[in-house]
This record gives sequence, C-alpha cells and structure tokens, in this order.
Amino acid sequence: MKICCIGAGYVGGPTMAMIALKAPDITVTVVDMNAVRIAAWNSSVLPVYEPGLDEIVRQCRGRNLFFSTNVREAIKEADLIFVAVNTPTKTYGVGAGRAADLRFIESVARTIADVAESPKIIVEKSTIPVKTAETIKDILAANGMGNGLSHQVLSNPEFLAEGTAVADLLAPDRVLIGGERTPEGEEAMRTLVDVYARWVPRDRIITTNLWSSELSKLVANAFLAQRISSINSISALCEATGADVDEVATAIGKDSRIGPKFLKASVGFGGSCFQKDILNLVYLCEHFGLPEVASYWEHVVKMNDWQKRRFAAKIVRTLFNTVADKKIAVLGFAFKKDTNDTRESAAITVVRELLAEQARVVVYDPKVSAEEIRLVVLGLGVENPRLQVATSAYEAADGAHAIAVVTEWDEFKSLDFAKLYGTMPKPAFIFDGRNVLPHSLLKEIGFRVYSIGR
Ligand code: UDX
Ligand code: UDX
Repeated sequence: MKICCIGAGYVGGPTMAMIALKAPDITVTVVDMNAVRIAAWNSSVLPVYEPGLDEIVRQCRGRNLFFSTNVREAIKEADLIFVAVNTPTKTYGVGAGRAADLRFIESVARTIADVAESPKIIVEKSTIPVKTAETIKDILAANGMGNGLSHQVLSNPEFLAEGTAVADLLAPDRVLIGGERTPEGEEAMRTLVDVYARWVPRDRIITTNLWSSELSKLVANAFLAQRISSINSISALCEATGADVDEVATAIGKDSRIGPKFLKASVGFGGSCFQKDILNLVYLCEHFGLPEVASYWEHVVKMNDWQKRRFAAKIVRTLFNTVADKKIAVLGFAFKKDTNDTRESAAITVVRELLAEQARVVVYDPKVSAEEIRLVVLGLGVENPRLQVATSAYEAADGAHAIAVVTEWDEFKSLDFAKLYGTMPKPAFIFDGRNVLPHSLLKEIGFRVYSIGR
C-alpha cells in the first residue's frame, strides 16, 4: 500500500511519521508546496519541534517515509491520500473572522481530480467545517466522471495535542473515522481502520457517518476550550474574593463527573485549533439559524481574549499605572511548553499590549526564534526598537522592572531566582501567568509575586 499526505505541518508530519514507524510495509510520502519546509524535513533540524519525533523520523526516513515537493507524482501513486493542509479563519468576505478558509482544501481536491488515474481514498485530516467532505466529493465527481473513477472521502480528524504529539499518536484515546454508509464507503473505512489497527486496539477505533466525525472534532475542541474559559472566569472571581483558583480547581476536579484535566487557570489558551474551531462552530450555528447557540460558544472565545488583556492590564496597574520606558521581561512565547508553535499564543496579546503602553519588552523563549517573535508581534517588515529578544531568561531579566511568565516551560521553574532578583531594580515584580513558579521562595527572596486567580 502507498500513502500520500498533502501538508507537511504540525499534523501531517508527526502523524505520517507514526504510520511509517508502525507499518514498515506501507510507503508513506509527505508532500508540501513549501520547498523550504520539505528541505527541513529532509535535514537534521526538523521544522516541527516535538519531543521524540526526531528519533522516529531518523528511523523511518529513506526506508518507508519520504518528504517531497512533487505533489502530483505522490497523488498518482497513492492508494490513500491524507489531506492535512491548513484551514485558517477567513480574513475577507463572507464569514470573515469566523468561517474557515477552504481554498487550500478546494485546490487540493482539484489537483487530485486532475492527476488521479485510479480510484483513491481521500482522508480529511485538517479540521474543517461540517459538510466539507461534500465539497470535496462534488469536485471529484464533477471532474472524475470523464475517466470513470469513483473516489471515496473519509473524515479522520486529528486529536493530537502539540508537545505531546508522539505520545498521543502512540496511544490515542480514540481514532475517529467517518465515512459514507454505503458498501464502497464501508470498504474505504475498513481500509483505514486496518492501517491504525496495527498499533491501536480495535475498540478504540470508532467509525461514524461523515458528518458526525467532522462535527466531533469541532465539538471536542470547543468543550476543552470551554473548560479553560470557565476556570479562567473563576480566576478573576478568586482574585476579587481571596479564594485560590488552584485550590478551587483541585476541589472540583476531585468530583469524578468533572475530573481534574483542563482546569489549569492561565493567561489564556492559544494554539492553532481552539479559537479557530470554536469560531467555526459559531459560524455553522449562525448559518443554520441558531443565534443563541452561536453566541453561547462565541463567549468562550471572548472570555479568552479578556483573560489575555486582563493579564497585561494587571502588569501595568501593579507597576504604579505606568510601564512607559520600563523594561519588562516576557518569559515564553510559544502557546504552551514543549512546542515551537506560536499560533494564537497568549504571549502575542500580552507583548502587544505592553508595547502599546510604551514598555521596553524583552522576550525569551527556549524554542522560538527571534525572527519569528518579531514577525508574529509586529508583522512583516515592521520595526520597533522597544521589542527585543534575549537568548536566556537571565539576559531578559537583567535590569527589568518585572518578569512575566507566559509559557510554562520547565526551565522557568528552576531558574536561579536570587540571581535574577539581584539584577533587577526594586521593587522587583514577577507575574506568573501559568501558576508554575515557587511562590514562597520568590517572596522570601523579596519579589512581589502576582499570579492568576490568587
Ligand atoms: C493542522 C490541521 O491540518 C488544521 O486543520 C488544524 O486545524 C491545525 O493543524 P497544521 O499541520 O498545524 O494544520 O498546519 P501547518 O503547519 O500550517 O501545515 C499545513 C501545510 O500544508 C503547510 O506546510 C503548507 O505549506 C501546506 N499546504 C497548504 C500545501 O502543501 N498545499 C496547499 O495547497 C496548502
Ligand atoms: C488541542 C487539542 O487538545 C487537541 O486534541 C486538538 O487536536 C488540537 O487542539 P493543542 O492546541 O496542541 O491541542 O494544545 P492543548 O494542550 O489542548 O492546549 C491548548 C491551550 O490551552 C494552550 O495554550 C494551553 O496552555 C492552554 N491550557 C490547556 C490551559 O490554559 N489550561 C489547561 O488546563 C489546559
């Protein structure tokens, strides 16, 4: 069997590497129109940082795992084609700011229709609005009729979280596969089930109809994000009342009906999925004439925007209502630890708000490059001398009035805080946006410590 995956990003790369590892008899080719990205996948420095991924790629690359820019050739040869291109939120026209931009999906469908010489099973990996499979099928049918080919479209949403992608792929809670309830559809689903069954127990592989599968992905992310916005809303109430949000989270999390996960109060959730998928859900609800449902979910995102701005505002207020020309060290820029992904990271909002208050911001992140930080905060070609990037936490904090921890990188928990304190003007402030630092120790040293929900 030959598998091709279009899109060599955070989802396509790790997922295909795992299939190649677990199915040595299957040839897996990952293609992307971005030649720089493909070159990186073929080099010793992979474009995606995920613990454990290097080792798997090293083991499989050149054996049954290949990275290439030859999209058409890979499509022609493949039996199964995964589509893992990005589906950003539309920035223009109808549904701007909410609907998913499906132009990459459409162009991929057209390329497949154009190139295929045999029937294919097309697997949607990208998160997309419900009924996108219909669009793909439509394009394929309209273009495939002539050469008599009948392709099958399956939905197989990715539930891996960045930073733990390898572990999530190795032992997923479930694999979800949606397909048409026709003999051809069932046959296609069986083919894909057999690929995953090489390492995932069969009772964890769920098959559903296409629309249930597409919708489940959006709903899973919406429910997870809702928990974070819920606990973050309570963090503000804790600060006002003297309750401690981590104690509240522990207490309610012991109720097995609620459970302990995804109750960590934070400066706000980020990542490529949560906001985009909720907005997508909102758009769908509006489209189907359900404005109450739409605004219910939309508020999860609004709550998150507020939480990010609230953190920046608290820094300004605490530093005697002005940060103009004060140096602020921002530790962490990725949207969470163990990834170099910065999409929708809370750090972007925090840094922008501080710059707007005329602060001098120095960012340090162990895995995100200085160029990327500047590009993401300021935009292409924009300069701002107030934004600097340091190569260590110590360099960032040297002479800073305050430290703000935005990402929960492990190395921040065990910094030499006395040393940091020594290099800062007094009073020295520390804002823990992730509640991960040793607060009693910091207070002993002399820091004024502020956290979320305490
Ligand atoms: C994934 C999912 O696919 C997306 O739906 C989900 O919601 C977020 O995560 P991800 O792998 O993180 O996307 O995206 P990205 O890292 O941007 O990778 C997508 C790749 O597809 C890019 O490398 C891009 O160059 C490639 N691409 C895009 C193509 O090769 N062809 C296209 O037509 C469009
Ligand atoms: C998410 C989903 O978990 C995954 O199943 C889906 O396929 C893709 O989207 P990801 O975006 O990689 O994965 O990260 P996740 O671990 O879910 O974290 C998202 C954001 O929420 C991060 O910014 C994280 O720091 C934040 N978060 C998470 C909290 O603030 N508190 C928590 O308790 C958990």
